[in-house]
Amino acid sequence: MNKSILRALKRVWILNFTRRVTYATSYFNSKYGQILSWGVQSNEDTNYTYHLTESNKDYLAQLLAHILQSDYATIRGYIAEIENDQVLRQHIQTGIIQSGLARFADQDIRYGKRLGWYAVVRALKPKIVVETGVDKGLGSVVLAAALLKNKEEGFTGQFYGTDINPEAGYLLSGVYQSVGKILYGDSIETLSKMNDKIDFFINDSDHSADYEYREYQIIKDKLSDNAIILGDNAHVTDKLSQFSIEQNRDFLYFQEQPKSHWYPGAGNGFSFTRR
Ligand SMILES: C[S@@+](CC[C@H](N)C(=O)[O-])C[C@H]1O[C@@H](n2cnc3c(N)ncnc32)[C@H](O)[C@@H]1O
Repeated sequence: MNKSILRALKRVWILNFTRRVTYATSYFNSKYGQILSWGVQSNEDTNYTYHLTESNKDYLAQLLAHILQSDYATIRGYIAEIENDQVLRQHIQTGIIQSGLARFADQDIRYGKRLGWYAVVRALKPKIVVETGVDKGLGSVVLAAALLKNKEEGFTGQFYGTDINPEAGYLLSGVYQSVGKILYGDSIETLSKMNDKIDFFINDSDHSADYEYREYQIIKDKLSDNAIILGDNAHVTDKLSQFSIEQNRDFLYFQEQPKSHWYPGAGNGFSFTRR
C-alpha cells in the first residue's frame, strides 16, 4: 500500500480499526474453508484425527531425540516406519468397518501425535506401557504395533489400556492383542491395582485437571527409573508440568500442527528424568 494512503488511513480511527481487524482475521480465514470441507468429507465428531505437517514431524523428532538420548535420524526413521506400515493401516481400516461405527470414523488413517507415541516405544524398548483412555483404540494399536516390532528385535513388552466405556478399544484386536489388553473400569481404580513397574505412561482419559493430577499421584511410585510420562492434554492443563516440578523431573512440551485441518492441535507434555 502506498505510504501516504496508509498514513491517511491510520489518522481516521474507523478506517484504521477496519484495516487492523481485517489483517487480524487473515490469520483465521483459511480455517472456515477447512471447516466446510471437513464438514462434507469427514465423519468424525470427536477425538479428531489429522496428519501433522512435515516440519511439525521434524520438531517432534528433534524433541524426542533429546528426551530419549537418541538422534533425529533414528526417531524420524521410526516415524517413517509406522507411516509405511500398510498392515497396520489395513488392520485399522478393517476394524473400523467391522465395528459398525464407520459412520463416525474416516477411512484415511491419520496418526497425528501418536507418531511420537510409536517412536517413544521403539526407542525406549519399554517392558510395560500404559495408556489411560483408549477410545476406539487408535493409540493402543499404534503402541502395540511398536511393541511387536520391538519383539522382532528381541525386546518384549506388554501394553495395558484403561477405559470406562466397555465398548472402547475395539481396534486392539488380532495380532496386536498378543501384546496388549484393555482393562475396563475407572482408570484411577485400575491403576491403583497395578503392580508392574511402568516404563511409559500416557494420560488420555478423563480430561479434568484434577483427575489427570490424581492419575500422576497414583502412578508415581509405580514408575521405573527411566520412565517417561506423556500428558495428552498438556495444551489445556499444566498438571504434568506441575507434577514434574514437584518430583524433580524434566518437562518438555510438543504442540501439534495439523495439516489442512481446522483443529488447532493438541499438546503433548513429556515428563522424564535425565539419564
Ligand atoms: C480422548 S479419548 C482417548 C483417545 C485415545 N487415547 C486415542 O489415542 O485415540 C478419552 C477416553 O477416556 C475414556 N474415559 C473418560 N473418563 C474415564 C475414566 N474415569 N476412566 C477411564 N477411562 C475414561 C473415555 O471413555 C474415552 O474413550
